[in-house]
Amino acid sequence: MNYSISKTKFGEKPDFEYPISLFLKEMGEDRLKKLFSDFYDLVVDSDIGNFFPQDEEKLEKIKAHNVKFFIEACGGEKHYTKAVGHFDMLKTHKQFSITEKARREWLGCMEEVLKKVDISNEAKQSFWDFLETFSKHTVNVNERLELEDLVVSKG
Ligand code: HEM
Repeated sequence: MNYSISKTKFGEKPDFEYPISLFLKEMGEDRLKKLFSDFYDLVVDSDIGNFFPQDEEKLEKIKAHNVKFFIEACGGEKHYTKAVGHFDMLKTHKQFSITEKARREWLGCMEEVLKKVDISNEAKQSFWDFLETFSKHTVNVNERLELEDLVVSKG
């Protein structure tokens, strides 16, 4: 497995491929649910924990929404689109200020939970590659610019 992360060039929207169908076939919906439950338990305690509600009930809702999205993204039923009315993750993430550092933290939590899953490398790699590329689309704050703005505004 190669969990490498390449740097986002701010503003880029790279082409990506959804995971191969083997991933959902090998994982099954129950294990996918467990994966995202474990993932969010890690995320709320991570450096990006402040983005997410700490309230158990709200967190459960996010976990459920996520699983629906990923089942659909992995070639399964269109549960997410049916429930939410769109499949646009850019729209969903626009309201949050996401930096490259936040993306890496998110992917780091995912790497940790994925490592514990016993499926073929082929399936796992295709899931990781999707996340690694797709997550670049969620980065909407340029860290360097932020820092420069700060320096300018402080005079
Ligand atoms: C591969 C990349 C990512 C995917 C596929 C993804 C997917 C999702 C999905 C499916 C949801 C639930 C949407 C809904 O409730 O309708 C969500 C919510 C969210 N994501 Fe992501 N995400 C990604 C990366 C990130 C990153 C890097 C961050 C950085 C902080 C992030 C922060 C959030 C936040 C704050 C929410 C909303 C939580 C809430 O409802 O309070 N996501 N994401």
